Amino acid sequence: QQRVLSGIQSSGKLTIGNYIGAMKNFVALQHEHDCYFMIADLHAVTVPQEPAALREQTESVAALYVAAGLDPAEAAIFIQSHVPAHAELGWLLTTMSYMGELERMTQYKDKSEGKEAVGAGLFVYPALMAADILLYNATLVPVGDDQKQHLELTRDLAGRFNYRYGDTFVVPEPFIPKQGARIMSLEDGTKKMSKSSPSAGSYISLLDNPDDIRKKIARAKTDMGREVVYDVQNKPEVSNLMTIYGQCTGKTVEQVQAAYDGQGYGAFKKDLAEVVVAALEPMQRKYADVRSSGEIHRILRDGAERAGAVAEQTLAKAKEAMGFLPIV
Ligand code: TYM
Repeated sequence: QQRVLSGIQSSGKLTIGNYIGAMKNFVALQHEHDCYFMIADLHAVTVPQEPAALREQTESVAALYVAAGLDPAEAAIFIQSHVPAHAELGWLLTTMSYMGELERMTQYKDKSEGKEAVGAGLFVYPALMAADILLYNATLVPVGDDQKQHLELTRDLAGRFNYRYGDTFVVPEPFIPKQGARIMSLEDGTKKMSKSSPSAGSYISLLDNPDDIRKKIARAKTDMGREVVYDVQNKPEVSNLMTIYGQCTGKTVEQVQAAYDGQGYGAFKKDLAEVVVAALEPMQRKYADVRSSGEIHRILRDGAERAGAVAEQTLAKAKEAMGFLPIV
């Protein structure tokens, strides 16, 4: 049995990219392993958030975890800011991070590019993410492709800490799916699908209604050809749509390609829209139930308690190793 931790920022509506790249694997791992899944609200505030919007998004992401199939009896589901050890170990690991390695993070480079004022939180963000993981002695961290570099840094920080202060942290492994680790924008097959994109047509939100989903897929960019062929180099947009189709139906892209042999983009896109609608429909129904029942608050209270118990122990061990004077 492995210890698993992962998280998703509460910085907007989740997309089908978040689901395929991360949440789907959270659900798959929960029965076999000891799982902790958090909503990363401390990470969300590395860019400005309206207080009311942050509150709503945080509760919404938590409810989506449950709606997507996470079972609170199996996995601890909790809010990052409910467990103060995250902020505290985040600081300790910030002091152990080098400017140079943080500057090399591509997510930081992307998010700060062309901006006049860049928040310091955006810069030290990976040290907080390392704390999230190391507090639980996680061995496995399910994430999409874009978090790979942050995982590498987490491994470096764990190793550095252990070398300086003695064995304290477990060095984690990333768990990145072979298919679907990088779902691309519907409008540009070279860009990642992102919930923070200003163009709503570029992503499918997990809470989009069926008509919006159909419209977005009908308008999704495809290349000049007409064959439904998986070729990431030459047909990035169609290949991305085939990946989404495969992930929503449990088919491989080869099976999808075979199924549409001799058919054009039109027929494929029409079916894809229905496939996505059918995949999201039960999740949306469950989401509405979870939100209206108010059960999420109990789930989060229980999750924070379970997570806090583990996190506090690790934090105490790290502080002792570093030489902080304990209360006696
Ligand atoms: P975030 O909130 O940007 O994304 C959450 C998860 O979704 C994955 N993902 C995607 N996968 C496939 N295709 C896409 N287009 C796509 N977009 C996003 C991400 O890779 C991620 O797994 N820093 C993290 C949150 C975090 C975290 C952690 C993760 C905070 N602490 C500790 C793991 C462990 C983030 O910003 O993910």
